[in-house]
Amino acid sequence: MNPQKIETAMKGILLAGGSGTRLHPMTLATSKQLLPVYDKPMIYYPLSTLMLAGIRDIMIISTPDDLPQFRRLLGDGTQYGVRFTYRVQPSPDGIAQAFLIAEDWLQGAACALALGDNLIFADHLSVLLQAAARRDVGATVFAYQVQDPERYGVVSFDADGRARDLVEKPAQPTSRWAVTGLYFYDSRVSAFARAIRPSARGELEITDLNRIYLEEGSLQVEKLGRGCAWLDAGVPDALMQAGMFVQTIQSRQGMLVGSPAEVAFRMGFIDAAQLRAIAQTVHKTELGRLLRDLADGR
Ligand code: G1P
Repeated sequence: MNPQKIETAMKGILLAGGSGTRLHPMTLATSKQLLPVYDKPMIYYPLSTLMLAGIRDIMIISTPDDLPQFRRLLGDGTQYGVRFTYRVQPSPDGIAQAFLIAEDWLQGAACALALGDNLIFADHLSVLLQAAARRDVGATVFAYQVQDPERYGVVSFDADGRARDLVEKPAQPTSRWAVTGLYFYDSRVSAFARAIRPSARGELEITDLNRIYLEEGSLQVEKLGRGCAWLDAGVPDALMQAGMFVQTIQSRQGMLVGSPAEVAFRMGFIDAAQLRAIAQTVHKTELGRLLRDLADGR
């Protein structure tokens, strides 16, 4: 099915920092977000998500060592009909720091943030994402039920289903709803990020930023139901599961998961000739065949 196609002036940030210590030794010589999730580099998945939200202006933030590799992989974005800007995060001082690093580039625009190791798969995802991108005031985050909430930011709800509190990696979680690594913020986000102080582990926590919106009453928490898959790839088991999930869907349905080229074409950012050119760069692969079929309308 084709996605809804509403573009937005909202900008996007892809955060691909960190040292990937939970994936050592795989990440000793390369970035976590460049590791393969089945047939694509991990960063393709959150990139596709931002593009599906209708976002065409995207900043990629990574470590001084890794940023050149992302530039080599993704270029300036012309091939996808989008624009990439690259910026270094000199040290891993927390997710919310992205909005300080990007502040001058944002120029007061609203902004979505996608973590480079998060994969979201859902029916009608474009509708959900584009609705979040259209909200002028406040923030939107997504919650997903997991077995191990203590690994994540956790949101709990009151009896009316309204978000009540947000805690980062609680030792005793009060709910099983994890906050996913995809966030939509209004134009005040950098100002709010400046007000945050480092946590006990020395990081500017994204959960503290979300809590500012929660306390103001402008945080929308969208629950992702059982028809959705949210996977992160931060530890070996999760990386393997994500790969097997993508392989299962792609080989069974012949539909691509996490392909920026596919999303660019379906969103109307590029035409069939441009899609064919991308397919040609991977022509020896099944991915190339699926992209060619899409360009040919098959
Ligand atoms: C980060 C956030 C956490 C969120 C998670 C999603 O955790 O701090 O709130 O639930 O991403 O992947 P990290 O992966 O940095 O431990």
